[in-house]
Amino acid sequence: MRIERCRRARARRWFARYVDDDSSTRISVFDFQGELVATAIGTVELGVPNVLYPKGRTVRLANVITLPWHRGQGYATALVRDVIAWVMDADRVDLSATSEGQRIYEQLGFSFISAPRMKLVLENSSRKRTSTTGLVELMVGRRPG
Ligand SMILES: CC(C)(COP(=O)(O)OP(=O)(O)OC[C@H]1O[C@@H](n2cnc3c(N)ncnc32)[C@H](O)[C@@H]1OP(=O)(O)O)[C@@H](O)C(=O)NCCC(=O)NCCS
Repeated sequence: MRIERCRRARARRWFARYVDDDSSTRISVFDFQGELVATAIGTVELGVPNVLYPKGRTVRLANVITLPWHRGQGYATALVRDVIAWVMDADRVDLSATSEGQRIYEQLGFSFISAPRMKLVLENSSRKRTSTTGLVELMVGRRPG
């Protein structure tokens, strides 16, 4: 219960901060009779510019969701199009597709990438401290302190 409250508070702070920040975030929504029925959110991620992606900026597309009873009316397609149209000065748009979303993205020109996507979930700050210590060890070749 407490964790859920913290999660909601964090999400509220995030939306309050980025809802009007058009330079880093695009929150596209459809409302139907005052109710939010579909969303798609794009956020800019900074990386290192390289030969393939010279700007070093990627837009991550997430939260593509349409309420079940509003599906099949083109809402998600229109919102994803809106995020793509907003993309300024970035090299590409990345996303993790569900099987439900895949068709929409393919129709809009998204393609599969060959590199496997991987992640390391950092659950708490003590785990983060451990990994930083590991990094320091690697850099100097011995235990710090
Ligand atoms: C995927 C999802 C966002 C699609 O929303 P939507 O507003 O219905 O999408 P659209 O109306 O733009 O549909 C585009 C096409 O996919 C079809 N489609 C939509 N939902 C579908 C579903 N659940 N199963 C099969 N086909 C579906 C539509 O009929 C349409 O086909 P068309 O191009 O032949 O007309 C919605 O099903 C959803 O919220 N799913 C759960 C969350 C999710 O998986 N999101 C994607 C994250 S990557």
